[in-house]
Amino acid sequence: MSAPPLFRALGRRTLALVFVWVFGLVLLVPLFGVTNPVAGWAVPTGWASDACAGWDPHAAPELDPPQCLRARQFRQLQAFRAAEGTEWQLGNGDMRARSALDRLERCVLGLIACPERPLVLGDMWYIFVKGHSESGEAVWLGDVVCAGSRLAGTRADTPQQDAVEENGYVFLALMPDLRRAYKNWAPTRLLSELIYQYWTDADQSFNCLSDPRCVRAEDYTPATNASYRHDLGAVPPSQLGQLPSWRVIGVSFWGSRPFSFDGAGQNAQYLWGKAEGEEWAWHTLGAKWQIVPYDYPGHSYLPLSIEQRCLQAPVVPYTERKDAVLILAKESPYFYHKDYLTSAWPRIVADLNDAGVEVWSTAKIVNDKPIPAGIKQLGQLSAAEYARTVGSVKAMLGVGLPEISPSPFVAMCKATPVVMPYWDTPSESAWAPFASRYAQHGIVRALGEPYAYSYDIRNTTELVARVIDAVGTEIQPFVPQDMTMAAVRERTRAFLRTDWEGLYDDIVANNGGRPPAHDDTMMERCFASGKCRPELLAQGAVE
Ligand SMILES: *[C@@H]1O[C@H](CO)[C@@H](O)[C@H](O)[C@H]1NC(C)=O
Ligand SMILES: *[C@@H]1O[C@H](CO)[C@@H](O)[C@H](O)[C@H]1NC(C)=O
Repeated sequence: MSAPPLFRALGRRTLALVFVWVFGLVLLVPLFGVTNPVAGWAVPTGWASDACAGWDPHAAPELDPPQCLRARQFRQLQAFRAAEGTEWQLGNGDMRARSALDRLERCVLGLIACPERPLVLGDMWYIFVKGHSESGEAVWLGDVVCAGSRLAGTRADTPQQDAVEENGYVFLALMPDLRRAYKNWAPTRLLSELIYQYWTDADQSFNCLSDPRCVRAEDYTPATNASYRHDLGAVPPSQLGQLPSWRVIGVSFWGSRPFSFDGAGQNAQYLWGKAEGEEWAWHTLGAKWQIVPYDYPGHSYLPLSIEQRCLQAPVVPYTERKDAVLILAKESPYFYHKDYLTSAWPRIVADLNDAGVEVWSTAKIVNDKPIPAGIKQLGQLSAAEYARTVGSVKAMLGVGLPEISPSPFVAMCKATPVVMPYWDTPSESAWAPFASRYAQHGIVRALGEPYAYSYDIRNTTELVARVIDAVGTEIQPFVPQDMTMAAVRERTRAFLRTDWEGLYDDIVANNGGRPPAHDDTMMERCFASGKCRPELLAQGAVE
């Protein structure tokens, strides 16, 4: 006859440990006056009396108290680790992901304080280029997820101070491609009990919400047309999606823009079949489930902040700066993006030089497009060198591209005023400041002088005049209030604390008790444009 489960669970080793603890306490109390040896630990309250009482992670999983969430989470972690190499894999460099797994383990073992569901799973490429890329996406989300960014020169094992993690969550970043990390949404299923939110590229969120291997069955809302839907009956039980749709978060630098307020690579008409001005979202529950870097109408705004990288070096006094203007252009074709400037460059450079202003560029030469003559070429710079250079000149000049980039904010934070072009009068729409049909950077333009000067891109006289004004005017370092690190933290916190499930319940109730679905036109356009490329599961097509 075997021993009752409790005694098997509390094996001899466990009893010995208890013995050592008790004696340790008796000895320690008189020596150091320690009354609670775990006082410094972040043990969740209720650790001993909750549904997990008696849980022993060393014991067989069958002995876990069935109501103990942490036990189920711990077993999922074990199963997840066992699936490495088949369902997911990491490169040698992905130490960040490995340490996230270790941290999750400490959460569910009660060694550190974490929210009940501690995991934010993310798979945007943004996270992987962090510290290696100055793209707007990387600069933005790097600070939201990982405020303590790993910039060139810092050690790889520098503790990450994440805006998400500062709120107690663990951010695990994996790429949705087995060559990089995983296939078929496997981590969303294997880690379902741990996941608080799943942050994914907005296009990928559209795919997730229309794939029964990603969202749970009740939130899978297939297209009417069988050509664009998975057959739920064809999904192997082990691959049935587990995520409620309210845990799925779409991440997008550009947001879901109505047609005619497009940004780079955006076209709501071609990609989603939307009419002029029509609002739409990748997410079935609406744009609020989409994280964006600027205050786009209806979205969840987690601000882009350049403050941390800006503060890494002191501001250079005005009198010690070069009489130079730095052109905002990562690549040489930007000089010719707007036709008006193409033939005007020799005059612009000559007029600025005559006024005692040098013109500098850090652009890379692409497609044999030359950097206009007379411009001093500094070559491509690292993030830190770039920030230093921006802070050593007296103005930054935009020439049409890139749109709504973070760089002008870096400049203003370094007390360098910016001069940006416009080409049309903005409409009344709340989308206007973000749209490229009016200006290169409507948000910066709205800040006005002395931080942001504007010129009509058809008027090179005005360009030269505004640059000379900017170069001649000393300004103080400037960071818009909602782009400070403190604001990023605050908004991230509010975002994480939103009652997403409650909002979902309301939306479903207002939709006749059913979760909203993508409309058929969106599904159709998504396939026709090649944005949707999942292998569709159909009866009889299962491996
Ligand atoms: C379903 O989609 C297919 C492929 O695009 C199309 O040929 C067909 O007409 C659609 N059926 C309906 C009923 O719209
Ligand atoms: C161009 O800008 C200059 C200086 O701001 C201004 O005097 C001039 O009227 C403008 N030209 C046109 C055609 O708008």
